[in-house]
Amino acid sequence: MSDPAKRAAARAALDEVAEGMVLGLGTGSTVAPLLDLLAERAFDIVGVPTSEVTARRCQELGIPLTTLDEVAALDLAIDGADELDPRLCLTKGGGGALLREKVVASLARRFVVIATVDKQVTRLGISFPLPLEVVPFAGTPVLRRLESWGLQVERREREGRAVVTDNGNLLLDAVVPGGIADPAEFDARLQSIPGLVETGLFVGLAHEALLGAADGTVIRRTT
Ligand code: A5P
Repeated sequence: MSDPAKRAAARAALDEVAEGMVLGLGTGSTVAPLLDLLAERAFDIVGVPTSEVTARRCQELGIPLTTLDEVAALDLAIDGADELDPRLCLTKGGGGALLREKVVASLARRFVVIATVDKQVTRLGISFPLPLEVVPFAGTPVLRRLESWGLQVERREREGRAVVTDNGNLLLDAVVPGGIADPAEFDARLQSIPGLVETGLFVGLAHEALLGAADGTVIRRTT
């Protein structure tokens, strides 16, 4: 059984879903119960998954999928977050799917975040290291560049091996001392580094956040 707070947020997101929608389907433990609920209620939707993990789960559940080659826009994207600030800027990528998640969110007419209340922060980067996707060739130069900016950076590893994303890239997790004062400016600065493919900063993308609490209540926040 999934966490009640995550399940509450996922259930609240179902109110946003209408029959016939093309739906961006996020990645992570808050999206997992959403996929179960979509299948249970047999919604007539087609999904664009943001990761191979989500695609596999949809296949198991019988949720029909499409690709960005087949659809020009998405009606709605629903995804989790690692941190949300007061303006609904997000840190994402704890599950390593940030690149596809950002592409999908950017193509959606509406992007709804589902998370637990404890993901709210006053400033991004204070509770969670910022995930960055980097091409393997440039992993070390990008890491050194970020360290020269005063960031504490680690290459993401699992069982002693570098984590490789669905896109064949590496992940760096960067601690920004004091947090990120201006997410848009910092995102642009990071994106200017050759070899850095995408950042986990989602600025100006989310329209609404549904934040679940352990007692099953949900706080709705909009921009
Ligand atoms: C996946 O790469 C992430 O962006 C997730 O959406 C984020 O880490 C939130 O995950 P949980 O819902 O598991 O907390």
